[in-house]
Formats: sequence, C-alpha cells, structure tokens
Amino acid sequence: MDFIDLKTQYAALRESVNARIQKVLDHGQYILGPEVAELEARLAERTGAGHCVAVASGTEALLIALLALDVKPGDEVVTVPFTFAATAEMIALIGAKPVFVDVEADTANMDASKVEAAITPRTRAIMPVGLYGQPADMDEINAIAARHKLPVIEDAAQSFGATYKGRQSCNLSTVGCTSFFPSKPLGCYGDGGALFTSDAALATAMREIRVHGQSGRYRHTRIGVGGRMDSIQCAVLLAKLERFDWEVRQRIEIGAHYDALLSFPGIRKFLVKADRTSVYAQYTVRVSERDAFEKHMKERGIPTAVHYPLSLHQQPAYAAAQAGRSYPVSERLAREVISLPMHADLDEGTQQRIVTAVREFYSTRD
Ligand SMILES: Cc1ncc(COP(=O)(O)O)c(C=O)c1O
Repeated sequence: MDFIDLKTQYAALRESVNARIQKVLDHGQYILGPEVAELEARLAERTGAGHCVAVASGTEALLIALLALDVKPGDEVVTVPFTFAATAEMIALIGAKPVFVDVEADTANMDASKVEAAITPRTRAIMPVGLYGQPADMDEINAIAARHKLPVIEDAAQSFGATYKGRQSCNLSTVGCTSFFPSKPLGCYGDGGALFTSDAALATAMREIRVHGQSGRYRHTRIGVGGRMDSIQCAVLLAKLERFDWEVRQRIEIGAHYDALLSFPGIRKFLVKADRTSVYAQYTVRVSERDAFEKHMKERGIPTAVHYPLSLHQQPAYAAAQAGRSYPVSERLAREVISLPMHADLDEGTQQRIVTAVREFYSTRD
C-alpha cells in the first residue's frame, strides 16, 4: 500500500501528461515557455487572485514573498512553530527573526488569539500556515494585521484547493504561497510552487525577484534569486488540473469518511471548521502511544508518517534563538500526531483495511 498513490493518478492522466510534456520537448522552451504563462493564468483564475507567479518550489515562494515585502535582517515575522521547517527557515535565512505563536489543539493552525501579543515595533509580517490542508483563521489574522498595517503571507503549501468562507486558499491575504511538491494536493513531477496576490506592484516585484531582480534583460533593479518553475513541470500541472476538482471532492469525502470511521477512544481527530474545507494534504490524527501504533500499522503493511515529530523551537537549528520559550500545544501535537494514507484514489476497501488495523490496535488495549 502506498502512503500517497501517484501511480494510479498517472495511469488516469497518462495521455494528457505525456502529450503536454511532448509539446514542451517539441517547442524546446524549457525555461519560461508558454506553459508557465498558461499555468499562471489558469491558477490566477482558479483562486480568484489577480496574479499568479510560478516559482521553483514552495520554499522559494516563501523566500520571494518575504523579499518582495522588503523584510530585512533584524525584522520579525510572526508565525507558528508547528509546521514544516521551510516556513520559519526562509524568515531566518534572510536574517529576520521568526517569532512563534502557538497553534490551536483542535486544528493545529495558528491560534489567532495569541497573535496580537507577539507583535512588536519590529514586526514586518504575519505568516499563518494552512496545516494539513485547512486554512487558518484568516479573517481574524487579517484584522489584526490591518490594525498594525502589516501584510499577511499565507503559507498555503498544504492547502491549495481548500476554501475559506467560500474563497480559495492562496487568495485570502496579501500574498499566498503554495507548493507543487509531488505529494501535495496539486503536485508536479519534481519541485514547483507559486505565489498569488491581487497587488499588481507586489506581483511585479515577485516576477522580477524570480529572475535575479531583472526588470528587463540584464537590467537588475533588485536583488533576486534563480527561482523559476520549469516549463515541463508547468505542463504536468496543466494536465493534472483536468482532474483536480474531482480529486478535491474525493479528498474531502475520504477525509470525512475517516472521521466517521475512526471513532475510538484513544484517537483524537482534528476539526475542520464549519466555514472552510480541508484538502487533507495529510489525514492526521492524535494518538497516545504513537511508537506502538506506528509499529502495529507497519506490521500490517500500512504506511504512516509523522508530520512533524518536533515543534520547530525544539529543532537544533532554531533552539538557541528560542531558548527558554515553550509552546505547549505544539509540543504536545509533535508527540501525538500521526498521518494515515491519504490520496484521491484511496478506495473504500483500502480505507476499511486501514481502519480495521486501527481498531485492532485499540481492541488489544481495552
Ligand atoms: C507548510 C509548508 N511550507 C512550505 C513547504 C515547502 O514547499 P517545497 O517543498 O515545495 O519547497 C512545505 C512543503 O512540504 C510545507 O508543507
């Protein structure tokens, strides 16, 4: 059993994926070819954001967003410690300081009630994450940001395709950043990512930063990066978009089915709030005896994964700067979370097999 089954998805899309890739091989414009602009137009339309800029990865998207917003060494960016490293890493990489606020226990997303207290005169941006595929409390976070005249960067690496009060993730704040890493809800066949904004000046800055800060050929008006997304990867996504709406519906249905089936004492489920959807980049639950649970599932041929085993303030690279600080909810989640197989092609029988194995685990512990 695959944790994420990309082979079945490829089998369903083989002809369009192959034809799209072949087209790139025929025209030979591997860098910034027509597929890049076509994908950007499709994704801008899909999300409702005025502008989309395709870039080399989700990590690069975060870096370009911070550079475009002119975040500098010594500045502070308020974010969460319970996330993939890239969120805080790009802040630290440019010499700014990630200032953590804890997450909510029931969603694993930024606890908006803690944000205001973390803002100082040095704060330059707020960066919530849509962890596991569900957007954070964006209205509350945007309102705090507006009071302090701060931009909000949504790290939507896991939540592309999810909705918040009827609007698409990536179009919920100043800038939305997503990842097209192969295992993401919309994934290419290598690295890829995108930025979204409705601010035209910011979009121009992001486009220029993507190609070494060039405003024209060999005219470098800003400091940028080599952060383009390949034409071939854009071609893969254009083919995958044919099935994406169906995949999002499947993910929501499979997630809800897991929720209904996994009603055992000992398993704690995350909540999807009523005004939004999750695309379940991961289907994650909280268990008390995680090592034993993991071993039990492995022995039955069921792959699991831990997203994430440590909160970032506990990681060696961040620990010194965070010394003495504690984020109890993040620490607890890091001890308890475990993700089960999740993808749009997960069939009912396989899901039942997974749930049966979980039930067996708890029946031996009654
Ligand atoms: C929350 C979050 N932010 C950022 C990233 C970075 O994306 P990428 O792997 O495309 O660089 C990821 C990818 O795993 C992620 O999950």
